[in-house]
Amino acid sequence: MDVLGIDIGGSGIKGAPVDTDAGTLTQERLRIPTPQPAKPAPVAEVVAQIVKHFSWEGPIGVTFPGVVVDGVVMTAANVHHSWIGVDANELFGGVRVLNDADAAGLAEVAFGRGRDQRGTVLMLTFGTGIGSALFRDGVLVPNTELGHLELHGKDAEQRASALAREEHELSWEKWADRVEEYLRHVEMLFSPSLIIIGGGVSKKADKFLPHVHIDTPIVPAALENEAGIIGAARAAL
Ligand code: BGC
Repeated sequence: MDVLGIDIGGSGIKGAPVDTDAGTLTQERLRIPTPQPAKPAPVAEVVAQIVKHFSWEGPIGVTFPGVVVDGVVMTAANVHHSWIGVDANELFGGVRVLNDADAAGLAEVAFGRGRDQRGTVLMLTFGTGIGSALFRDGVLVPNTELGHLELHGKDAEQRASALAREEHELSWEKWADRVEEYLRHVEMLFSPSLIIIGGGVSKKADKFLPHVHIDTPIVPAALENEAGIIGAARAAL
């Protein structure tokens, strides 16, 4: 079945129709910069623009970069704080809304590197923040928020997100040291059997993954930047 998937990020809002059986986009995706400040009304306008662009009348799934419980936004670390308490399902007109990393993880588990993996699998997305999706035998434990673990008295994502690498002008190697320290902490807490690295940086895995030394097998996501869109669509089924 085709579902429109929309991925709301800190810098861009991306959407495309998805063949949810194949896990592929059926049309070229549309990306519109996230309005700044990223308040609910202007973001909802962009979502409506994407729906209109594809003349979409079927089911829609939308990701959000914060905790979402039963469609209600509970946290908003990288978008405007006025999101907190907003019923996003209702705002977007009765669509399914879920956390962005959870969506990306659902896509990787269905179609990418997490396919047919039993045990504890952890997907971590490195972008504006750090997102997490925890799976046990393929079942998602939603809203784990492991980007906000404390490291050196700070939110881990402030030290080790992809944005932190850019903002602090770190070399890939220096950033990899921070990522490794973070992953060692996560590894200690969950003893996962596999860690999947997602987000825009998954395309550049060869630049930093060789410098990340942990005991758990670690692989870049297979679906790269499309995981959020595909996972949003799958979640709406
Ligand atoms: C948010 C998470 C989100 C992640 C990636 C974090 O700051 O708290 O909910 O998944 O960023 O966007």
